[in-house]
Amino acid sequence: MNNWNFFREAVKNFRSTGAIARASPVLVKRLIGSIPGRVPLTVIELGPGEGCVTRALLDKLGPDSRLTAFEINPAFVRRLELLDDQRLRVLPIGADRLTDYFAPGSVDFVVSSLPLSMIDQPVKERIIHQSQRVLKPGGQFLQYQYALQDYGLLKDSFPQVSISFTLANLPPAFVYSCSLGLL
Ligand SMILES: C[S@@+](CC[C@H](N)C(=O)[O-])C[C@H]1O[C@@H](n2cnc3c(N)ncnc32)[C@H](O)[C@@H]1O
Repeated sequence: MNNWNFFREAVKNFRSTGAIARASPVLVKRLIGSIPGRVPLTVIELGPGEGCVTRALLDKLGPDSRLTAFEINPAFVRRLELLDDQRLRVLPIGADRLTDYFAPGSVDFVVSSLPLSMIDQPVKERIIHQSQRVLKPGGQFLQYQYALQDYGLLKDSFPQVSISFTLANLPPAFVYSCSLGLL
């Protein structure tokens, strides 16, 4: 799916997509930069869309790692299924059902491109709370956002939150890196 097709899908479903273009390669690199490539990892992706972050994750993760993607748009789910990688499981399910699939403390990284600012507050709080619950003590929740609207919510949910910024995206974006701070 090229950027034009992503744009068309975004116009049809603007509230759930929350962007007019997919994340740039620079933003994707920044978002997943702290994930190590060699060790076996359990990784969750929230809101993969057409898969620009998914493909970068699969390029980076080793053969024994597992990636589970939660995506609610059926058109994007069909695209993701074409990736046909045995490390990848695509669930056509909302990100607020994480704990139906993962036990507490079982996940190394949750990587999210969800349009947090467009998601209803109770659902958003459920997603963040569940992400926090499934993470291992040394795990991280990684999220990008175009403004810092949800910094407060993340700060209330994670003891450690750091923020970086890149101009190399349309629009420029902040990247949150959140951890439980237990290691
Ligand atoms: C901004 S797009 C991100 C696409 C791509 N990962 C990127 O970074 O360019 C946000 C994606 O989140 C999905 N989404 C929105 N709400 C969701 C939810 N509650 N659960 C799972 N996916 C959701 C949308 O369908 C869309 O594909």
